Amino acid sequence: MNAPASIRRARDRADIEACIELQRAVWGLDDIEITGSIQLTATLHAGAVLLVAEGPSGGVVGFAYAFPALRGGDPHLHSDMLAVLPEARGRGLGARLKLAQREEAIRRGIPLITWTFDPLQAANARLNLRRLGATAVELLPDLYGTTGSALHHGLPTDRLGVRWELNSPSVRERAGGGVPAPAAPLLDAPCVNEVTWEGEWPVCSLPRLDLEATAVLFEIPADWGALCRHAPGDAATWQEHARSAFGTYFARGYRAVDLLTVKERGRPRPRYVLYRFPSSASGDLTFL
Ligand SMILES: CC(C)(COP(=O)(O)OP(=O)(O)OC[C@H]1O[C@@H](n2cnc3c(N)ncnc32)[C@H](O)[C@@H]1OP(=O)(O)O)[C@@H](O)C(=O)NCCC(=O)NCCS
Repeated sequence: MNAPASIRRARDRADIEACIELQRAVWGLDDIEITGSIQLTATLHAGAVLLVAEGPSGGVVGFAYAFPALRGGDPHLHSDMLAVLPEARGRGLGARLKLAQREEAIRRGIPLITWTFDPLQAANARLNLRRLGATAVELLPDLYGTTGSALHHGLPTDRLGVRWELNSPSVRERAGGGVPAPAAPLLDAPCVNEVTWEGEWPVCSLPRLDLEATAVLFEIPADWGALCRHAPGDAATWQEHARSAFGTYFARGYRAVDLLTVKERGRPRPRYVLYRFPSSASGDLTFL
C-alpha cells in the first residue's frame, strides 16, 4: 500500500459493514460487544460522525466514530472508536482520521470532542496527547468491565477521559502539523514511579503520592501488550499503580498534558507529564 489512503464520510451499508469487520480485526471483540449496524445507523441518523479511511485498492482500512453527547452539560461529540488495520498503521492514518473528525465537528459548530483511552498504551497516549494536543482530565476505573477483547488482556478496563478543545491555540497548532518540542524543565520533573528491569521486562514501583511539584511524571511500559503477555502479574501491578497515581493527582488538580519518550540505554521510556493547573486556568497549554 504505497499511495496514501483517502478519508471520507461513510456513505452506505457496505461502509458500516466494513467498520464492523474492522472492530473484529482490531479489537478481537466478541459479537455481543461489537457496535452493530443498527446502532451505527441509528446514531448516524441522529448526527453521529463516521469517517472511513479507504486504501488505494478501495478497501476500508480504518475508521473513526463519534456520536453527539451531553456529559457535563455542553453538547459535544464523544469519539467512541478509532481503528486502523495493523498493516496500515504507523503512516499517519490514525492522526488524519482524528483531524478529519475535528474538521467535521467544527463544520457543525461543535468545539469539543471527548473520548477515553487505556492509559498504559503508549502509542495511544502519544497520539492523543502529543500529536493531537488533547488533555486527559479524569480516571474512569474499569469503565467497560472485563471484555473479551484481546487488546484488554482480561484486565479491568481503566480509562483516561480526554477533552480535545478543537479551537484552542495548541490544538490548532497540531492541526496545522506542528508538534511543539517538550519544554526542557518538564523532562526533569520528578517521577512518581520508579522502573526497574527483570531481564527485559520493566517493573513498576509503588508510586509516590506526596509530590507537590507543578509538573510530575508517570512512566508507563513502551510495549504494554508484550508485558501483558509475558509478565501478566507485573502488568496487573502496574495497572493498579497507574490507577492510584492518576486518581490521586487528578483529584489534586493535575491533568495529563503530554507523553514524552526518552531513550535510556537503548530503551524507550515513555512518561506522562501531569501538570497542575491553577484553578482559574482555561486548560489551554500554550504557556507551557
Ligand atoms: C491507535 C491507532 C488508531 C493509531 O493508528 P496509526 O495509523 O498507526 O497512527 P498514526 O500513524 O497516525 O500515529 C499517530 C501517532 O501515534 C504514534 N504511534 C503510533 N503507533 C505507535 C507505536 N507503536 N509506538 C509509539 N508511538 C506510536 C506515532 O508516533 C504518531 O505520532 P508521530 O506522528 O508524532 O510519530 C492504531 O494503532 C489502532 O488501531 N490501535 C488499536 C485500536 C486502538 O487502540 N484505538 C485507539 C483508542 S484511543
